[in-house]
Amino acid sequence: MNNLTILSESFEKIKEYLKNNEDSNIPIVKFKTPSELKEIINFKVDKIGVSEHEFLDLIDNYLEYSVKTGNKQFMNQLYSGFNFPAFIGEIFTVLANTSMYTYEVAPVATTIETEMIRLMNSYSGYSNGDGIFVTGGSNANLIAMFSARNKAVPESRFEGYDCNLKLTAFVNEQAHYSFETAANVLGIGAKHVIKVKSDENGKMIPTELEKEIKASLNRKEKPFFVAATCATTLLGAYDPIDKMSRICKKYNLWLHADGSFGGSLILSDKHRYLMNGIEKTDSFAWNPHKLMNIPLICSVLLVKKRGTLQHNITDINTDYIFHDIDKIEDLGKKSIQCGRRVDAVKLWFAWKYFGLEGYQKRMDNLINMAKYAEQKVQKHENLKMVATRQSFAVCFRYVPNFKTDLNAFNLALREAMRKNGKSIVNYGYIGKTLTIRLVTVNGALSTQDMDVFFENLLTTADKLECKMYS
Ligand SMILES: Cc1ncc(COP(=O)(O)O)c(C=O)c1O
Repeated sequence: MNNLTILSESFEKIKEYLKNNEDSNIPIVKFKTPSELKEIINFKVDKIGVSEHEFLDLIDNYLEYSVKTGNKQFMNQLYSGFNFPAFIGEIFTVLANTSMYTYEVAPVATTIETEMIRLMNSYSGYSNGDGIFVTGGSNANLIAMFSARNKAVPESRFEGYDCNLKLTAFVNEQAHYSFETAANVLGIGAKHVIKVKSDENGKMIPTELEKEIKASLNRKEKPFFVAATCATTLLGAYDPIDKMSRICKKYNLWLHADGSFGGSLILSDKHRYLMNGIEKTDSFAWNPHKLMNIPLICSVLLVKKRGTLQHNITDINTDYIFHDIDKIEDLGKKSIQCGRRVDAVKLWFAWKYFGLEGYQKRMDNLINMAKYAEQKVQKHENLKMVATRQSFAVCFRYVPNFKTDLNAFNLALREAMRKNGKSIVNYGYIGKTLTIRLVTVNGALSTQDMDVFFENLLTTADKLECKMYS
């Protein structure tokens, strides 16, 4: 096999792929069932390696049947779009393959990660802060809870956690499921994550938080951790951090901000007020792989107090790797991983390329696009908002002209859209009401893209209505 031929052919395929990303006539997905896919692609690894030609075919197959998440009509998940400078950063990260544990093997990447943490802390207001790149928002939440557990029960690091202590954590009833997973992993137990009531807009009600903390104390439990969500997964609601921080101070509890979805809004002078009080939190999960459009994974846990992360690590028998010869702190001493991917470089390339101002504008544009989508819903007689828009999520549904089960109709509508592949959007439930959730997360979206989305949705709904009515 000639690697140079493969490389230049691959380059052509990348160019073609990127051109298609811009084309709204090319479907975002060529939907195949799992068995159909197995018919098309030989997934088995054979004894003898493939030829150059077959290798190139594998690339074609992979790209052809993968979901085109770079297309602006991909509005299904909390990541979307194509970020050119970050893509370049990713390619060169892989080319200069290394691990983030020591300065010795990653001098430039270590300095870049350190600078990214410093920059991000300048927004969070952690003047003596620290942080580490982790493998996703769920894991950032896990490390935050882990840090809080080690502060509340320091002996658990070596002795193990005594579950008779009954540590309790408090989150918005609409918080992400990763908090239960974290409690499970840490031996605290998922049932000790207490769900606090939210208001009609999905924000945690502070008086309810205090009520739950008091009830937990009355049950002789040990409250230790509270999470404020900065944009809940479905509604995009921002919990009132400032008010929550007063309660946490009163009861001496760790306050974490889960900004896995909406944390990047902190970059916007205009909308940062939604995160007022962030500097009073103890930790903050910020996911550049969502609103900043950095290719997955790019996720950071920031902590207010330097030394917190090192305190989590059980650094026994590490002298084979940390030689302490370069007079710089090796980042591996702050991570629960040993080998760790370089995720800071793609973020650095993108931030350098767009500049601080460029990213601020991208955030403001996302909110403007969500507002525009909300107005489109409000203006159309068959579209109805299901909840008031809080930030980047627009929750609505289609109401046909004839009487029907609206949950079933909207589920069918969403499925029809997914299968025809022109615009892809997700759905969820608010109580028992199924809602279509449109999210504006791709910084490059324009009003024309939003118009295309609604045109596709309305055409599909119309066809479905005709089919059901006739
Ligand atoms: C509010 C919130 N927290 C945490 C997560 C988990 O982040 P990740 O997918 O990076 O693990 C998500 C993901 O959608 C989220 O919306």
